[in-house]
Amino acid sequence: MAIRNFSVIAAACENFGIGVNNKLPWRLKNEMNYFTRITSSTQDNSKRNVVIMGKNTWLSIPEKYRPLEGRINFVVSRSIKDKPDKLDGLFKDLQTALEAASSSDKVENIFIIGGEQVYRESLNFPECHKIYLTIIDAKFDCDTFFPKFDEQLFKEIDELGVSKEIQEENGLKYTFHVYERQK
Ligand SMILES: NC(=O)c1ccc[n+]([C@@H]2O[C@H](COP(=O)([O-])OP(=O)(O)OC[C@H]3O[C@@H](n4cnc5c(N)ncnc54)[C@H](OP(=O)(O)O)[C@@H]3O)[C@@H](O)[C@H]2O)c1
Repeated sequence: MAIRNFSVIAAACENFGIGVNNKLPWRLKNEMNYFTRITSSTQDNSKRNVVIMGKNTWLSIPEKYRPLEGRINFVVSRSIKDKPDKLDGLFKDLQTALEAASSSDKVENIFIIGGEQVYRESLNFPECHKIYLTIIDAKFDCDTFFPKFDEQLFKEIDELGVSKEIQEENGLKYTFHVYERQK
């Protein structure tokens, strides 16, 4: 079955770290708001976006924020056998999750939201069209990382609604970047 183009979204620090002890290494409320805006916005009000994540990322979200509101929440896991009630979909592999998201006409956009294992696999799909990457200008101790990607294949673009300004919060500076796969 065909898969639609999808996006990957992540925030990484200087050394490309994204997490530690199954948590985010930083607390950036406005960055989180950006993530929510990008992953929730649809042009068609009758549609919603799908967010696909690995089991660890699902478990890393504080229970009161699960599922991520306003979005269709899909998780990939080989070990969870029964879908928790709060989840919209549980899949045994990424291909199946992407196919399910692609086949619904109620879905506008598909986002891969982590973590490392899922990012690694998703970047290899030819349908991986865009990367939304927030780069935090600081080093954190991390145990999970965003994969290095080919910047000839994924070229940085300007996207309407994504600020080019340096952001500052909690004494940390960061910038939003959008990369698009070249045909
Ligand atoms: N900074 C950011 O933007 C960001 C975003 C998201 C997450 N994070 C951080 O990333 C860390 C988690 O990353 P992670 O790499 O440990 O975990 P993860 O990718 O979230 O989840 C890994 C688990 O997902 C399942 N899985 C992964 N790929 C699969 C596949 N192709 N098919 C079926 N199941 C699959 C497996 O579950 P089973 O073992 O059940 O098979 C695997 O153990 C946390 O620290 C989190 O805070 C950071």
